[in-house]
Amino acid sequence: MRPLKLGILGSGKGSNFLALARAIQEGNVPAEIVLVGSDQPQAGILESARGMGLPVFVSRTGPFQTKLEPDIEEELAEALSRAGVELVVLAGYMRVVKVPLLRRFGGRIINIHPSLLPAFPGLKAWEQAVRAGVKETGCTVHWVNEVVDGGSTIRQWKVPVQAGDTAESLHARIQTAEHRLLPEVVGDLATRKISWLQDPRTE
Ligand code: GRF
Repeated sequence: MRPLKLGILGSGKGSNFLALARAIQEGNVPAEIVLVGSDQPQAGILESARGMGLPVFVSRTGPFQTKLEPDIEEELAEALSRAGVELVVLAGYMRVVKVPLLRRFGGRIINIHPSLLPAFPGLKAWEQAVRAGVKETGCTVHWVNEVVDGGSTIRQWKVPVQAGDTAESLHARIQTAEHRLLPEVVGDLATRKISWLQDPRTE
């Protein structure tokens, strides 16, 4: 089976990207990263990707913080298509995905979120969990649709909240879980152990 072609989008430090790239290198995930995209030219994820010799794409900056203007998102979708991307992985991508990406990649975009969705959607889910006083939180990989953090869940990993946890200590423990969950889900999508909403190989 040929490797699944991945496009990874992120706005931050890129630790999930690194975990996935490592799992691929170690032969645990039959996939290939064909493009790494970001809306933040200085993002750590881009530096890591360049360091690994992977192709990168940096979006133009538009007037909004939380979404790309349609023509800018269209350029990103075009770059992903041109690279032959089959699955788009949002790994800390801080823009809401809109029609241009959904039209081309609907049913083929996943996101990793640091809570057990539907609990604590949105920003800083670990802080929300500490404030709510829950005993357990975790992380979720889900399909992406037009509702922020609202697409159907693929798989979750539970993380206990410990006495004395701060937002930071909890976030670190959730991230450790994310670094296992994301490669596991991408691997299972690549081998079709998980079924796709829109399988690129049966279209
Ligand atoms: C992760 O906690 C992820 O759940 C959220 O953004 C964070 C990205 O972290 N969507 P990193 O850039 O992968 O380190």
